Amino acid sequence: MTRLTPLDEAALARLLEAAEAGADPREVMPPVEGPPGWTSVRRAAFLAFHRARSLNPATAVERTWVIDVDGTAVGAARLERHGEAVEAGIWLSRAARGRGIGKQVTALLLAEARATGAASFIASTTADNRGARALLGGIGANLTTEGDEVAAVLPLRP
Ligand SMILES: CC(C)(COP(=O)(O)OP(=O)(O)OC[C@H]1O[C@@H](n2cnc3c(N)ncnc32)[C@H](O)[C@@H]1OP(=O)(O)O)[C@@H](O)C(=O)NCCC(=O)NCCS
Repeated sequence: MTRLTPLDEAALARLLEAAEAGADPREVMPPVEGPPGWTSVRRAAFLAFHRARSLNPATAVERTWVIDVDGTAVGAARLERHGEAVEAGIWLSRAARGRGIGKQVTALLLAEARATGAASFIASTTADNRGARALLGGIGANLTTEGDEVAAVLPLRP
């Protein structure tokens, strides 16, 4: 069963474990200088990133959830307000990809976005990300490609 658990310090520790076990840092956090992989510097930056963006009320810009499947963290989902729009993001650990979890999480995020009263649901991805493009097209979003960037927009109001 796929559930979204609101991020807190305990969930953040589980999220870092999931990221280290099954994702490349470049897929789940902004770039950090240094050798590849989950160095101690990148682990600290991952924690600082989520604390600043979600957990610290003074700096928070988004809501983040840990994606739990049968009680195990397999990735993260987020919603960030941009004026009247709400931007969604998802990453899953490698073993969790291609099993329909992204589709379930997209539906959960969409329901949450509607509940906030946002005017539109938006997301961005890259042209080579077929999974993300399929997810966004699947909810009826309009996809626009510019170079390598794909922008998705789904109006939520009539
Ligand atoms: C992108 C991502 C969230 C998709 O989630 P997922 O659970 O793997 O996707 P699902 O299994 O729910 O599949 C959803 C749809 O995408 C398609 N799909 C998934 N992975 C695909 C792939 N690699 N190539 C082509 N199609 C793919 C599925 O066939 C399905 O299509 P359908 O609705 O027509 O049946 C996930 O693969 C991921 O986390 N990737 C790494 C991080 C990332 O790229 N995040 C998004 C950045 S914008």
